[in-house]
Amino acid sequence: MGNLVLITGTSSGIGLSAAVECAAAGFRVVATMRDVDRRKALDEATKARGVSVSVEQLDVTAGHVVPKIRELVLKYGPFYGLVNNAGLAIGGAFEEQSEADVREQFETNVFGLMAVTRAVLPTMRAAKRGRIINVSSISGRVGLPLVSTYAATKHAVEGLSESLRWELEGFGIDVCLVEPGTFKTPIFFEHLRRGAAVPTSGPYSALTEMVEKLFLEEAEKASEPDSVGRAIAGLLGQESPRFRTVIGTDARTLVTLRRMVPDRLFASGIRRLLNLPRLR
Ligand SMILES: NC(=O)c1ccc[n+]([C@@H]2O[C@H](COP(=O)([O-])OP(=O)(O)OC[C@H]3O[C@@H](n4cnc5c(N)ncnc54)[C@H](OP(=O)(O)O)[C@@H]3O)[C@@H](O)[C@H]2O)c1
Repeated sequence: MGNLVLITGTSSGIGLSAAVECAAAGFRVVATMRDVDRRKALDEATKARGVSVSVEQLDVTAGHVVPKIRELVLKYGPFYGLVNNAGLAIGGAFEEQSEADVREQFETNVFGLMAVTRAVLPTMRAAKRGRIINVSSISGRVGLPLVSTYAATKHAVEGLSESLRWELEGFGIDVCLVEPGTFKTPIFFEHLRRGAAVPTSGPYSALTEMVEKLFLEEAEKASEPDSVGRAIAGLLGQESPRFRTVIGTDARTLVTLRRMVPDRLFASGIRRLLNLPRLR
């Protein structure tokens, strides 16, 4: 029997793809989603691939994450792997973003991820083995305009993962970060637009229009997230996985430039790429 893996946010995109790829790689997958009425796409994808997963309800922001995970452990057994994938991005200029939108992103991307991680840790420690894959983003390495809160949440995930790695390796638990660039998933076409659509006039309107157009064009051209799902399954299966996995040409290019190029030069490249005005 394959190792047991719990994945959050599997109703679409990267989480769905990870569920299918992990099942195809031989893992027993508990695919969780906050609304199980949205399971149709996952059911179709698993059927098409000839694999099966168990679907369970889990809202990572709910107050009862700990008892819920305990219930799942009793039902399925201890989890070897945890894929913290659930997340959302609400675009818009930071100054104009509503407090609710700021908090929702932190509640989901950071506090939700922390709650699920804390809930699985006791059984992983008891088993002296485990693997936690945190789905971060290129925004966890490089901040771009109009996704400032999202970038802040992903930088938080990076910092948490870097520290946790050292806390947990003595217990036989590996922590890995996955940092995708742009992949074609609903994240760009639903929530990101919700924020960006708010101000039609005001100090950030020209910037918003320009950058949102660029983001959406990039997302339209982007690949389906299958390669991210495969990378996650690969990290769960490897004997000794690498800590950081950057996925996508755009992400690899940005991370390399950020590391190699002096900040002034990097900044002028970003300005040119995004066609950003500079007043001085
Ligand atoms: N797509 C990209 O280019 C990209 C790049 C870098 C990083 N990422 C990261 O990849 C992860 C997956 O995003 P995606 O691109 O695949 O977008 P997506 O298709 O919108 O998937 C997000 C998933 O998270 C779920 N979710 C949201 N809030 C939740 C909550 N409170 N509890 C449980 N599940 C919740 C969504 O469920 P509902 O269906 O109920 O909304 C959905 O299943 C995110 O962490 C995102 O930041 C994506």
